[in-house]
Amino acid sequence: MKDSYGREINYIRISLTDRCNLRCIYCMPEGVELVPREEILREQEILEIAGAAARVGISHVKLTGGEPLVRRCCRRLIREMKQVPGIETVTLTTNGVLLKEHLESLKESGIDGINVSLDTADPDLYRKITGGGDVSVVTDAIRASVDAGIRTKINAVALSEENETLLEFARDYPVDVRFIEIMPIGYGTRFPQTDNRKILETIRKNHPDIEKDPSKHGFGPAVYYQIPGFKGAVGFISAIHGKFCGSCNRVRLTSMGYLKTCLCYEDGTDLRKIVRDENLTQQEKEERLAEAIREAILRKPEAHCFDDPVDITEKHLMASIGG
Ligand code: 5AD
Ligand code: SF4
Repeated sequence: MKDSYGREINYIRISLTDRCNLRCIYCMPEGVELVPREEILREQEILEIAGAAARVGISHVKLTGGEPLVRRCCRRLIREMKQVPGIETVTLTTNGVLLKEHLESLKESGIDGINVSLDTADPDLYRKITGGGDVSVVTDAIRASVDAGIRTKINAVALSEENETLLEFARDYPVDVRFIEIMPIGYGTRFPQTDNRKILETIRKNHPDIEKDPSKHGFGPAVYYQIPGFKGAVGFISAIHGKFCGSCNRVRLTSMGYLKTCLCYEDGTDLRKIVRDENLTQQEKEERLAEAIREAILRKPEAHCFDDPVDITEKHLMASIGG
């Protein structure tokens, strides 16, 4: 469906859990507050919400976290999500730590693509950024994912100037490497703003023939470039210096069932209350969910306010919001 600014909203990011097996410095350096299990949406509830979202025109689902693979139901959920009428693609964002061991079953469950969060391929830097992670586990998993024939991308929050180690993936494999500007959400506020234009300039020094790639690579806001001879593209997700709110296509569901329509604002709709309302018949529930999602989309703000941070009302960590 279209929102009140004429944007087609067809994509939902669903956070399966706030928890994670890494401790990235800009995300959850000290982990997350543990919430009682019953606060978190159950598998069936997630499917019901996805079904209702599909009825208002959502056709693409990204499962995210925290780290979605720490939740045991993740792989079964993908298979079931693929059966939901109206849902066309189901993709996953993961830090890659558990990816390799789950690849086969992810492939069997029909996953349409995997985004791996990898900020650097340098072992020491990676250990520092992630609070102790072993980068070789993740880089192995990326290669295995490509070998398994899964569309695989790398997402890097560009904290450091060093990016050649990541670009090697785009050189050697059909893997798009995308640089994400850090957003002033949660611990992200403690870091200086990063600027994708600077990264492009640095890359251009080593690869002067890099050029804009006008073809479409996915459903998101990334702007792509090609380096001749590279198998994958280089993408830039520039929420701060390349504001793309005018073409935003998405909403976000937190692990506790709160539907958010913009990263910047706390405002949203509690879908868990509806999906757990025992006084509703199944049909009433489906209708109420769809109506609540439709209303939320119609209230979606025109743009984020990262350029005017006093207006940011979102107090949660990025891990609750799902990136
Ligand atoms: N700004 C931008 N991206 C962030 N992520 C986590 N915190 C931030 C932030 N403040 C990213 C992770 C991961 C995705 C789920 O969100 O690196 O790629
Ligand atoms: Fe985990 Fe991703 Fe947050 Fe790192 S950025 S701690 S991998 S959720």
